[in-house]
Amino acid sequence: MNAVLNRRLDYRPMRPEDVVDIMAIEKRIYPFPWTAGNFVDSLVSGYSSWICREDGIMVGYAVMMIGVEEAHLLNISIVAERQRAGLGGTLLGYLFAVARAAGARRMLLEVRPSNAAGCGLYRRHGFVEIGRRRGYYPGHGGREDAIVMERGL
Ligand SMILES: CC(C)(COP(=O)(O)OP(=O)(O)OC[C@H]1O[C@@H](n2cnc3c(N)ncnc32)[C@H](O)[C@@H]1OP(=O)(O)O)[C@@H](O)C(=O)NCCC(=O)NCCS
Repeated sequence: MNAVLNRRLDYRPMRPEDVVDIMAIEKRIYPFPWTAGNFVDSLVSGYSSWICREDGIMVGYAVMMIGVEEAHLLNISIVAERQRAGLGGTLLGYLFAVARAAGARRMLLEVRPSNAAGCGLYRRHGFVEIGRRRGYYPGHGGREDAIVMERGL
């Protein structure tokens, strides 16, 4: 049987006690990781924040802000060992469903042009570039622009 069909994935809301484990992942997979405070603030603000587990083990997480008719994806991450196995796309699909159920009609996000995996994931799943934010991110040796992308839900 296809390995994809064998996966046992589930999703549960992120909790404050997850932040220590999340930070260990975050520091490995991003050149400029979020801080623990960014995750705590997201939880305090009531952002739609999720843990994705495979056979009970955390393999990814995501944070999304849902406003009137619009969802803004703030963080989507898959552990290094399980990247490029379809999990990011599956987690994204879950977030589409959550956002749609909350009444959102479109999803927006920012991504670094240098982030090939992020740009690839989003394009593969129907996002299109709608603009740029100049010098949005800190970078090594200067600031880096953000590509703003959008997808209907
Ligand atoms: C971006 C990320 C979430 C993608 O998750 P993933 O589980 O590896 O992605 P998937 O296996 O579902 O891949 C879906 C598509 O994304 C693209 N993609 C994924 N990884 C890629 C890579 N390293 N290079 C280029 N394209 C890539 C491909 O189009 C891929 O489809 P394909 O495998 O059929 O070619 C993951 O790489 C990650 O956590 N990266 C570090 C954190 C990060 O950059 N998050 C996004 C911030 S904007």
